[in-house]
Amino acid sequence: MEIFYRSNIVLIGFMGSGKSSIGRRLADIFGYKFIDTDSLIETKTGKSIKKIFQTEGEQAFRQIEHSVVVEVSREKRAIISCGGGVVINQDNINALKKTGLIIYLKADVNSLFERAKKANTRPLLMVENPKEEFERIFSQRKKMYEEAADKVIEVGERSQEEIVAEIVHDLGVKHD
Ligand code: S3P
Repeated sequence: MEIFYRSNIVLIGFMGSGKSSIGRRLADIFGYKFIDTDSLIETKTGKSIKKIFQTEGEQAFRQIEHSVVVEVSREKRAIISCGGGVVINQDNINALKKTGLIIYLKADVNSLFERAKKANTRPLLMVENPKEEFERIFSQRKKMYEEAADKVIEVGERSQEEIVAEIVHDLGVKHD
């Protein structure tokens, strides 16, 4: 029953899990608003995520991210795609859970890396050994994603259409 009070759908997962593109498709299907926390941070600050990390540092980014998360948690009928690090602050998860059902898009670290490395927009990968760093952060976080999730979707090698279809099948009836 609880699901009826939580009209948002929140997508969490590591970099490269497809949160934004899957989120956009879900928003179209459900007729919900689509919100991407990273894009909102960029709009609000007028700076790219990369620039915020470079000039103000990760801590500053996390504070901005938290205030944006609190703000978007007040939405109704929104698909909210979160930056991969949203789970490191439990206050973020508490806020999102009040109004949203949290879906973890789960994938193995190698396929995530293959996808994530294609874009050169991710500050956490701008290090000497990006693969090592990626694996290190992933192993730190994987339990957090599991614990935060109301529902886990295995992304695997499936197409986005298939993943979206599974989510719609599971939630479509309940989210009117
Ligand atoms: C981050 C993931 C990024 C972005 C920032 C930090 C992380 O979002 O929020 O670079 O800590 O995992 P995506 O998961 O959309 O790449």
